Amino acid sequence: MSDNDSAPSPRPRRIKEVLAARPTIEGAGVHLHRAFGAAEVPRLDPFLLLDDFRSENPAEYVAGFPWHPHRGIETVTYMLDGRVEHEDSLGNKGIIGSGDVQWMTSGSGIIHQEMPKVDRQRMGGFQLWVNLPKTNKMMDPRYQEVKAGQIPEVEPVRGVRMRVVAGNVNGVRGPVQDVVVDPEYLDVRLDPRADFVYPVKHDHTVFAYLLEGRASFGEDASDLIEDGHLVIFDKGDSVRVKTRDAATRLLLVSGKPLHEPIAWWGPIVMNNRKEIEQAVEEFQNGTFIKRGTRS
Ligand code: CO
Repeated sequence: MSDNDSAPSPRPRRIKEVLAARPTIEGAGVHLHRAFGAAEVPRLDPFLLLDDFRSENPAEYVAGFPWHPHRGIETVTYMLDGRVEHEDSLGNKGIIGSGDVQWMTSGSGIIHQEMPKVDRQRMGGFQLWVNLPKTNKMMDPRYQEVKAGQIPEVEPVRGVRMRVVAGNVNGVRGPVQDVVVDPEYLDVRLDPRADFVYPVKHDHTVFAYLLEGRASFGEDASDLIEDGHLVIFDKGDSVRVKTRDAATRLLLVSGKPLHEPIAWWGPIVMNNRKEIEQAVEEFQNGTFIKRGTRS
């Protein structure tokens, strides 16, 4: 039984907040746009961060993200263009190519690097950080590697196409499964003059990030939100997306909030400061990696 089979609510969620993605430098000097991050905690609980690293200029991304640890979170890399080579301390190595997704659960710890390849000018995609609850922060690490061709595309109504990375759209289930926060991760393309109501779980946090075009949201669908902006929704059973003159593309993401304290140190996110200190100490003395993660 699909979680999304219930009839759409007559009252779509209202916009709670709109944020412009802001220029940020990360890794070894990658210029990207951050839709949200530590400054927004806990407004997007269970999500921690969303980076948009699309670029047409290799100088902005070639430095990449050399060796760094993660603990307590999941990082979700969705490539639109180009390739990123990843490698970790346990010998996993691979390429995330155009349209591919890597859903990496760091759990107790991985040390990895993520290095963009300069194949041509344009490269880019998105990295989302998903928090893990206290009971899962020290779980064994794992990867869910998904090739572009494994991601189903559905057309729930005419003029709206969705790539289902995670979640369930009209019985079509995305390839990423068994994630604690029960996420739905959709890449949605809308034709001009589309008007679409999509059911979401009542108590889940829901956001939309506009990649291209512009759209309005909510029952009255009044304000037109431009690309490069994040829309955070209030509670409710559905979201409404309405386009006007422009074809529009957005990420529509939802997940179950954790309501737990957050202690954040760079790529490590735990519940309290003591756990952070322990992680840093373990990283420094070489005991950070607890379990094998060969995928
Ligand atoms: Co990383």
